[in-house]
Amino acid sequence: MTENPYTPAVLAWYERNARDLPWRRPEATPWEILVSEIMLQQTPVTRVLPAWQAWVQRWPTPADLAAEAPGEAVRMWNRLGYPRRALNLHACATAIVERHSGQVPASREELLALPGIGSYTSAAVASFAFGQRHAILDTNVRRVLARAETGVEYPPKAQTKAEVELAEALLPPEPAVAVRWGVAVMELGALVCTARSPKCVDCPIIDQCAWTLAGRPAHDGPPRRG
Ligand code: ADE
Repeated sequence: MTENPYTPAVLAWYERNARDLPWRRPEATPWEILVSEIMLQQTPVTRVLPAWQAWVQRWPTPADLAAEAPGEAVRMWNRLGYPRRALNLHACATAIVERHSGQVPASREELLALPGIGSYTSAAVASFAFGQRHAILDTNVRRVLARAETGVEYPPKAQTKAEVELAEALLPPEPAVAVRWGVAVMELGALVCTARSPKCVDCPIIDQCAWTLAGRPAHDGPPRRG
């Protein structure tokens, strides 16, 4: 595909419907964005919001967190689940202080080398914090692309090379537009193209959705959560 036919409709939908989340505001720092992405990996937005506020208030920079004992990070993590993420974030803060003079690095490679930062998180931080053009493939985006492009209800269990290639082919050429596109598709998956009972009547790309055009065939097997 050379041109993404969904971009204008998805961006216009995002302008009207996006949630006002503090880590998406222009004043959010790279550290605040990194913390949000780690918290959002396995925890819903509503539970992340108060935990994120408390965390960035207490430790506004990587150096503030690195100066604490790791146990404090686990205590602060509270009920977000998967507390290993708190230890990873502490190790990540320490590595940022040691390797990058306390500044969250901007390059995808340097981000990937930090503890607890994988492919998705490095792309999300490089994109949302530093305005770079990277394909964003979280569970929401994978589901939207599975439906809109591949015509199936759910993506494969494990991410495939074909999904990465598709996401890259759909990425708008302008970095600033690509960044908005990434967060917009994520939001579309979170609010409209949901895992169960998608709200297709509210979808800005219903006319181009391969799954809808195919009559929304049911997934072969139990419904997926992601
Ligand atoms: N905005 C930016 N990143 C996000 C994420 N991972 N989940 C929900 N909203 C986001």
